[in-house]
Parts: sequence; C-alpha cells; structure tokens
Amino acid sequence: MQQWTLEARVGRLEDDPPLELGSVELTVRHPALLRDRFEEIFGYIATVEGAVPQNVAEITALLPGLDDQDLRFLCVWSSHELAHAAIFDALRAELGLAAAQDGRPVSSVVPDPVRPRPSFRAFGALSTSRWLQDVFKLLYLSRGAMHEHMTYDCYRHLGRQFAALGEDGLVRTVTEPIRRQEAAHLGYYRLAAITHRARMTSAQVGLARWLTVHTYTPVGAGPCGTGPTGRVFAGLAGDDMDEVLDAVEAVADQLLGDGTHPLPRFVHDSMDACLDGRPRLATRIRDAVPWR
Ligand SMILES: [Fe+2]
Ligand SMILES: [Fe+2]
Repeated sequence: MQQWTLEARVGRLEDDPPLELGSVELTVRHPALLRDRFEEIFGYIATVEGAVPQNVAEITALLPGLDDQDLRFLCVWSSHELAHAAIFDALRAELGLAAAQDGRPVSSVVPDPVRPRPSFRAFGALSTSRWLQDVFKLLYLSRGAMHEHMTYDCYRHLGRQFAALGEDGLVRTVTEPIRRQEAAHLGYYRLAAITHRARMTSAQVGLARWLTVHTYTPVGAGPCGTGPTGRVFAGLAGDDMDEVLDAVEAVADQLLGDGTHPLPRFVHDSMDACLDGRPRLATRIRDAVPWR
C-alpha cells in the first residue's frame, strides 16, 4: 500500500479543484418527491457545509500555533466545503425551496464578518500553554476525522436514496464527487492526528480522549434537544444508523484509544440525545465547548 506523507496529502487536495456548479446536473426527475423527502436534509447540508468560514475563524482562534501545512489544508478544505454548500443551495433553488432569510441562500446564514464565539476565544487564550494547545489540536484533528467519516457515509446513503429514485444525474454529479472529496479530507485528518499524537505524552492523549468522550456531538449539531440533527441523520442513514455510528467510534478508537479497551459508546449516546429531542445536561455542556 502506498504510504502518503502529510505534505503529499495536502498537495493532492490542492490539485483537486472545488466542484463547479456548472458540472452539476440540477434537472431532476421527481422534484415534488425530492422537496417532500429532502427539504430539511438539503437545508442542513447547505448550512453545515457553508459554516466553514466560521469554523476556520474558530479553529485559528483555538489553535494560534497552526503551521503552514495546517493553514494550507484549512484553505483547500474550506474551498471544497463551500462548493458543496453552493451545490445544495442551487439544488434547493431548483426545487423551489425557500431561501433562508432576506433571499440569501441557506449556506450563507453566518455572521458577517465572522468572529469566533467567546468560548473559542477563551480556550484560545489557554492555548498559550503549548501543552494544552497540543491537546486541543489532537481533539480538533480527531474530531475532524470523525466528522468527515460521518459526512462521507451520509453522502453514500444519500446517493443510494437518489439512485433508488432514478436520480442518476444527482448521484453522478453530486453525491459521488462530494463523497470522493470527503474521503480525501478524512485521509488528511486521520494522518495528521496520528502524526500529531506521536509527539504527545500519554497524559495529553488521555486528556484529549476524555474531552472527546464527554463533549462529542454529531457533525453540524446545534443544540441537540431542539435542532434537526437527529431527524436529518435518521433520514439519511435509516436502518443503517448503528453501522454509521460504529464506524465513527472506530475512528475515535484508532486516533484516541489507549490500545487496551474500546472507548465507551459516546457517539451513539450523543446521537441518542439528538434523536430523543430532549435537552440533557450533558448535551448542554457539549453545546458550550468550542471544538465540536
Ligand atoms: Fe463537504
Ligand atoms: Fe469534508
């Protein structure tokens, strides 16, 4: 198997341009059915993919010591994700679904200019301690890998649903190319986390593990008690939800585990809270921390 260096992975990502809207087949066979079944899901995807300027502002506030390679990745990653958001905005427009507010696309509902939330600025101040910054960086990289795996799997399931409806153009020009980019993002995060962890002490890794287990929320999750997260993931993964969540747990085990026991089923617990639709104390704590 070919061994990739981090440098090579960033270079490969930079060689892969953002997906162009012009390459997407937006003419669909079953507009009414797609509107009915996917309105909330498409809105969620556009919002989460379009939140990257906010994510970048917050990651750079949390981790002031990012190096050139980290920043190159953030740059290419955000260009890819914004293009994914634009595709879902366009798909929503094609289906006649409402723009969010003031006629703006769903994906652009982020503050302008983007400012890190106070929790990020507070934890960023703690990052003047190199020891803590290394912990936060492992958290960020492993969380990134977990989110990309979940995203990759969700596009796989969305593609299956499109295929079952005969929407082959959407499979070919939307879910397949996006899934390929999410897989490349996952590859970068995974290798970056393994490389970073190799330089850390077991106490630092233990703290990153503890924080992950106690603060994880699914990608894009706002307050799980009231938000659409549970419905959206249930709508995407359906009966395969356990398999999707098990795979995310396996990523966490690989990147944060101590090699003796598997981590607790924290990914399942967090999704259960989203599916319950009931705010829990643990969920409120998770919603307050800056690296989710
Ligand atoms: Fe994406
Ligand atoms: Fe991604």
